[in-house]
Amino acid sequence: MAAAPSPLEQQADPNNSSYIPLPDWYFLFLYELLKYEFAAAEYVVIGTVIIPGLGFGALLLAPFLDTGTERRPSKRPITTGLMLLGIIATVWLTYKSAAHVDWEERAKYSVEAVPDVEIDEEHPGYEVYANNCLSCHGDSLQGNPGMAPTLVGIPYNAEQIKDIAKNGIGEMPANQFSGTEEELNQLAEFIVSTNKQASGEGEGEGESEGSEEGSH
Ligand code: HEC
Repeated sequence: MAAAPSPLEQQADPNNSSYIPLPDWYFLFLYELLKYEFAAAEYVVIGTVIIPGLGFGALLLAPFLDTGTERRPSKRPITTGLMLLGIIATVWLTYKSAAHVDWEERAKYSVEAVPDVEIDEEHPGYEVYANNCLSCHGDSLQGNPGMAPTLVGIPYNAEQIKDIAKNGIGEMPANQFSGTEEELNQLAEFIVSTNKQASGEGEGEGESEGSEEGSH
């Protein structure tokens, strides 16, 4: 069946308006229903109340509506037909909904994908980061769904990070950094040292299995 994975995602960020929330897979069919014109916008009551209401109302009233003594499904075409219709519609809508979603893209932002690092807020580069980069890349360099990727586990050295801060890269616009050359150095130093710590190269403690302290 089209049971799609809905991984636990990062903490909700009210400032991120580009993030599209998605219900768990067992609600996807109801969500998909709302994409049809007859059940959306001014008719949204049809999709949210009337159709689900009719469905559950019919289930509730089934013992009273269906008083026949016949037990064989083939002898009860209306009841059996409605049931099959309900099942087929639910499976179809779930499938349609799941097929729309870029699961790989979403998985990037799942809790498991979030790098586990201790952010050194005392580092002189942290403040520079907070002023220039945090709004997109997140307060722990974890990235922001639909906005910017994580900066932990990136392959760049300090020179390259300085270059990206000034000139941008891919979809990241140029001139995101403003400040002195010294601040730029501190910023790059901060990102590089956080990356080293994440890969276990950090000074002391961490090691490569420093993943117990996962509190953000
Ligand atoms: C307006 C939002 C925004 C701001 C502010 C921003 N970035 Fe980015 N950044 C992005 C996006 C989007 C990407 C992804 C670019 C791509 O791959 O197309 C990115 C990518 C990056 C990358 C490459 C990551 C990778 O995995 O390849 C680095 C390094 C980076 N940013 C550093 C910074 C630094 C340093 C700052 C602060 C000076 C900063 N960014 C500020 C949006 C932003």
